[in-house]
Amino acid sequence: MPMQKELAMKRILVTGGAGFIGSAFVRFLLRTYPEVHVVVLDKLTYSGNPDNLKEVCPDRYSFVHGDIADSLCVASSMQGCDAVVNFAAESHVDRSLEGAADFINTNVAGVNVLLEQALLQNLRRVLLVSTDEVYGSIETGAFKEEDSVKPRNPYAASKAAGELLGMAYFHSHGLPVLVTRGSNTYGPYQYPEKVLPLFITNAIDRSPLPLYGDGRNMRDWLYVDDHCSAIDLVLRSGEPGQVYNIAGGNERENIAVAHTLLELLHAPESLIQYVKDRPGHDRRYAVDAAKIRALGWSPRMPWAVGMAHTVTWYRENEWWWRKIKDGSFREYYERFYGPLLSK
Ligand code: NAD
Ligand code: DAU
Repeated sequence: MPMQKELAMKRILVTGGAGFIGSAFVRFLLRTYPEVHVVVLDKLTYSGNPDNLKEVCPDRYSFVHGDIADSLCVASSMQGCDAVVNFAAESHVDRSLEGAADFINTNVAGVNVLLEQALLQNLRRVLLVSTDEVYGSIETGAFKEEDSVKPRNPYAASKAAGELLGMAYFHSHGLPVLVTRGSNTYGPYQYPEKVLPLFITNAIDRSPLPLYGDGRNMRDWLYVDDHCSAIDLVLRSGEPGQVYNIAGGNERENIAVAHTLLELLHAPESLIQYVKDRPGHDRRYAVDAAKIRALGWSPRMPWAVGMAHTVTWYRENEWWWRKIKDGSFREYYERFYGPLLSK
């Protein structure tokens, strides 16, 4: 596949930029490109957090509090931008199993509004950040971009729908849409509903780690800054109309991940509590990243270093997560995990 000439961009709209990966991407852009101005559009749902952008210098950055499904708000935020990179999403599988309406509103209808407005404003690039979950589960080997999507939970189905809409705009209207499918991402500022920050912060408090099923489901862990550099490369050098897998190259069973973080925190193994499995729990995700590697990307963060850094970050930044766990997350945790942990 021919490498595209790298695009220079001056103003980039980052939707969902107050979330975990989106805020890391904002920091990445501002430290990598001194000439870039970043506009963040974020609805600040339960997982959106202005604290994630606290370190960002306001000189080359502006924030719009709004919804990607609101076309007027998207139209004004997009003005003068060269590109939009969409991170805005409902992102948690367990919540999608409790009800999928918000997932459809943001991950499908919201994406459609972004595409419509990008077309009207003639944007040079639209990058939809998607997920390896759209392929579904795979026992052995790894999915390639041309394999069919077979999402198996409502979150993954909504992400697949958003992507497919994007590709339809590329084919029907020539909108320069690109899609990335990243693997499980970890690092600082991740909302503590996801397994790693949940287990790390529970272990710090010597509370149980609720491990689903037999604990042997496998995920491929990707450090957040490696995910950001991959997205940036696809944005600048990828070919419109193409999908790019992004793999961390760190496949681990959940039980092994739990053991690693317990060792790093000198916490006892007895904290691990096996609980009832997630319905339809995908056994293993794995994607082949040869296509993005051919553009010149590879992950830099070794697993052991990334985990040690992440655990240290949560240890040293209780100010960030304790108010979440004592606040918006507490009701969810008690409702969702209470019955699981009491059995
Ligand atoms: P996150 O839940 O931490 O952040 C999502 C952000 O989107 C929040 O800031 C939230 O306020 C915002 N948002 C939600 N609905 C919105 C709306 N309607 N309008 C504007 N903003 C809205 O999620 P994350 O883990 O940072 O994931 C970011 C993206 O990356 C998602 O699209 C997700 O599907 C994808 N992804 C995540 C992972 C992972 O392991 N976390 C892996 C691959 C892909
Ligand atoms: O693969 C990419 C996807 O990774 C992203 O698209 C999603 O946004 C992101 O949430 C993540 O999805 P997962 O379902 O893989 O992540 P989660 O952190 O919810 O779970 C990771 C594994 O840990 C999974 O096998 C389920 C298990 N788990 C999870 C939780 C929350 C537990 O055993 N106990 C838990 O309490």
